[in-house]
Amino acid sequence: MSHFLVIGGTGMLADAVLAWNQKGHTITVVARTKEKLKRLVSRAAFPEQLHIVQSDYLQLGSFMNQLAQLSAPDVIVSWIHRSGNDAVQWLCNQYKKSDNRIAFFHIKGSSAHNPKQNFTPYLSNFISYHEVILGFQLISGVSRWLTNTEIAAGVMHATEQKLPKYIVGTVEPWDARP
Ligand SMILES: NC(=O)c1ccc[n+]([C@@H]2O[C@H](COP(=O)([O-])OP(=O)(O)OC[C@H]3O[C@@H](n4cnc5c(N)ncnc54)[C@H](OP(=O)(O)O)[C@@H]3O)[C@@H](O)[C@H]2O)c1
Repeated sequence: MSHFLVIGGTGMLADAVLAWNQKGHTITVVARTKEKLKRLVSRAAFPEQLHIVQSDYLQLGSFMNQLAQLSAPDVIVSWIHRSGNDAVQWLCNQYKKSDNRIAFFHIKGSSAHNPKQNFTPYLSNFISYHEVILGFQLISGVSRWLTNTEIAAGVMHATEQKLPKYIVGTVEPWDARP
């Protein structure tokens, strides 16, 4: 069983967090709103294995202090908006495991499909980096953004596949995005 650290896990990734917990993994979820964190724990199959940290990744000093107290996770799932790129870089620098590399799944919006808008952190040898781009759905010529269910299922699949780059839905043709 693994320890997942999920930043931004109370919104569209909530179902993925609950599914990982159901499988017996230990999860630490970070978000700002205590009520949403507590609600997630109340829905968990194994609440004693779902830890919560109330923290704001834009308040980098307190974010670093709080997360520095955690033991190194096996898997990091980072749903951090671009305004929080410093927090992403810090997470990549912070945790080290002697026995295995930490799998870092960097969840990104569709704009990351454009290399000019894509931020990739500097990576040490301790991190195995996996980019997950949230695209859109194009069905019978009609496009729409992804639902939370599709996003959670896609991110779970990405963590199983462990590919360097995984696209949920599609980003092609780019002009067809909603
Ligand atoms: N390509 C696509 O189709 C696509 C891509 C992205 C999003 N979406 C859709 O858009 C909807 C809204 O997206 P969203 O970006 O608001 O994602 P969300 O997953 O619904 O919410 C963001 C998550 O990050 C946490 N968070 C936000 N700012 C934070 C901060 N500064 N520090 C710590 N945690 C923070 C939130 O909790 P707190 O607010 O409590 O901190 C929450 O857990 C989603 O439901 C999704 O369906 C679609």
